[in-house]
Amino acid sequence: MSIIVNKDKKIFLLQSKNNSYAFGIDNLGLVRHLYWGSKIESIEDFEMPILTEVSTNDPVFEITKEEFPVYGSLRYKEHCLKATFSDKTREIVYKYQDYEIIKEKKIEELIIKLKDDNYDFYINLHYKIYEEYDLIERYVSLKNMSNDIIEIEKIHSGQFHIPYEDLNFSNVHGHWGAEQQRFVQKVNYGKIVIENRRGISTHNHNPYFILDRDATETSGEVFFGALKLSGNFSGVIEQTQYGETLVQLGINSHDFKLNLEPGEEFVAPSILSGYTNGGFETMTHNLHKFAKDNVLRKGLRPVLYNSWEATEFKVSCDEQIKLARKAKEIGAELFVVDDGWFGERHGIDNGLGDWYVNKEKFPEGLNPLIKEVKEMGMMFGIWVEPEMVNPKAELYKKNPDWIYHFDTRESDTSRGQYVLDVTKKEVKEFIYNMLDELLTTYDIDYIKWDANRPISQSSVKKDIWYKHIEAIYDIVKELKIKHPNVLFEACASGGGRIDYGILGIFDDFWTSDNTDAYDRLAIQDSYSYIYPIKAMRAWVTDCPNFLSRRVIPMKFRYHSAMMGTLGIGCNILKFTDEDINLSKELINEYKQIRHIIQEGDFYRLENSSKNRYSIYQYNKEDESLLFVFLPQSEIGHRGVTIRLRGLEEDSNYILKLEEKQIIKSGKYLMNHGIDFKLFGDYDSRIIKINKIVR
Ligand code: DGJ
Repeated sequence: MSIIVNKDKKIFLLQSKNNSYAFGIDNLGLVRHLYWGSKIESIEDFEMPILTEVSTNDPVFEITKEEFPVYGSLRYKEHCLKATFSDKTREIVYKYQDYEIIKEKKIEELIIKLKDDNYDFYINLHYKIYEEYDLIERYVSLKNMSNDIIEIEKIHSGQFHIPYEDLNFSNVHGHWGAEQQRFVQKVNYGKIVIENRRGISTHNHNPYFILDRDATETSGEVFFGALKLSGNFSGVIEQTQYGETLVQLGINSHDFKLNLEPGEEFVAPSILSGYTNGGFETMTHNLHKFAKDNVLRKGLRPVLYNSWEATEFKVSCDEQIKLARKAKEIGAELFVVDDGWFGERHGIDNGLGDWYVNKEKFPEGLNPLIKEVKEMGMMFGIWVEPEMVNPKAELYKKNPDWIYHFDTRESDTSRGQYVLDVTKKEVKEFIYNMLDELLTTYDIDYIKWDANRPISQSSVKKDIWYKHIEAIYDIVKELKIKHPNVLFEACASGGGRIDYGILGIFDDFWTSDNTDAYDRLAIQDSYSYIYPIKAMRAWVTDCPNFLSRRVIPMKFRYHSAMMGTLGIGCNILKFTDEDINLSKELINEYKQIRHIIQEGDFYRLENSSKNRYSIYQYNKEDESLLFVFLPQSEIGHRGVTIRLRGLEEDSNYILKLEEKQIIKSGKYLMNHGIDFKLFGDYDSRIIKINKIVR
């Protein structure tokens, strides 16, 4: 049982494998946080403290650890909910009413039911406990049972209380081509805000928080939460004056207003949250395991070939067929035609919205290419950017009011395109029908869904910042009902749409347009903290890399891309025999080990050397893999001692180190480690380790 209730004391204890989360209802009917940390078995230990104000300037509401603070009364800290009622009152006074426990597929969910004292306005706080993953999913639903509209100005999905000061906050920053760069900063007095105001997605920050007490990979306390939302989010971290740190995540209140109609219910996006005292590795494992078991589609991901970097917009049926044949020869299993196959799409300024097959490029339509691809035994995928329209496109000429706009203003183009107002019923239907027709007409297995610009001139409705992405989720969910086998890749100018909102609805993330194998190691490392490896698409592309101008040997490029779901984005028609043979060999190797990569446990190993080694390990049952990278051998280089993780202490393991076979115990490999050395520039190895099973 993961939910324990003490009805007399009105205390709720949420239990997962190793942790507890407790809160209760106080004499004023407020929902007050009591505990989040290592497991405490006995609910009887918890008491609801009676609070008295510190001074008239430090009122009780400021000190009270509320699970869901609302706007009103003497509250000045961040609130989670702000509403305006029809009589212009802007104060919510909630009171606890009741609770309910529901159970679905062995997962228990606690619902705390609150009601406003003055209006027929209901707030439900939901807590779903994923016991074996040590995760709690929190969300909030609002219901307007009054006869008037209630304007919601802010809705964050929950507040977390961490009973410490001086925590470290980590997230990622970045921009196009440089996504997922991990940063860590000390939390001090004042607030840290991460957010997205762009509507579509952002490369700048990611909707999660990690707060730790000087944790390492393998030790220390870590509190974390990831928001299931791809649109405008905000996250606020605040060290208060009263010895704790508050965190909130939810829909960004920037330019936001949602009208809750009489009888309407609104369910805010949820936060997947957790605690560990075992360092970042445990956090990663809990999230990855949860995603692999419950979020991601089952089965191994195919090796993909994508034509974008090879052809850009200059696609033609004949050349695509040639590329497909070569892709098959080296071992690809899925052939994806990227941008440029439709409408008058010869560059960025036309075609979006006109989703017919371009006759000059594909005189007999897509079928000759698809037939060829299928006859070779490959899957077929295609690129779309359904949320967008070019001003020159027929779609725009016919429906100029379908884009986000203000009636008295010109909307801005960006990358030569406008954003369609997907919150309009007819636009949503157009996108669904267009994709349904594409998937019905052609034998398509994979959709790469791109979105290359943010929303501007966002129309008069202030809820579009949320409703846009909600509509996209709906479209894909609907499409998957009719076309259940089609895989969807979430791309937004590279890695703009990486979050738990889209994951599960979509199957893969395009991690970044930065395909430089060395840069990619850093991107992949940061990505791995929160998101599962199986969803991380990684390509091998040509050198010099289009972005970094760096030339990296092909083996290193493959090894870097083999750390996720492998793709190839090279102009393979220009491959030498040597390139082809190496590609065949490495793609074949990937196929032998991908079950460990995509479905195993992932470890970021310590680099004990002064040289810049990157070392990663994957474990699945009796098999392990080590990925070792060295970008450049630097002065005084004496190699590295690699201490493995997650092995059985008393089992023996066999591994091959540079042609030499060694057998060592788990204890030895994890404590003493293996001494290893790479040489020169861009050297890399994949080392296989197998448990000796008696
Ligand atoms: C941006 C994507 O990230 C690229 O992979 C490619 O699909 C281009 N868009 C196509 O326009």
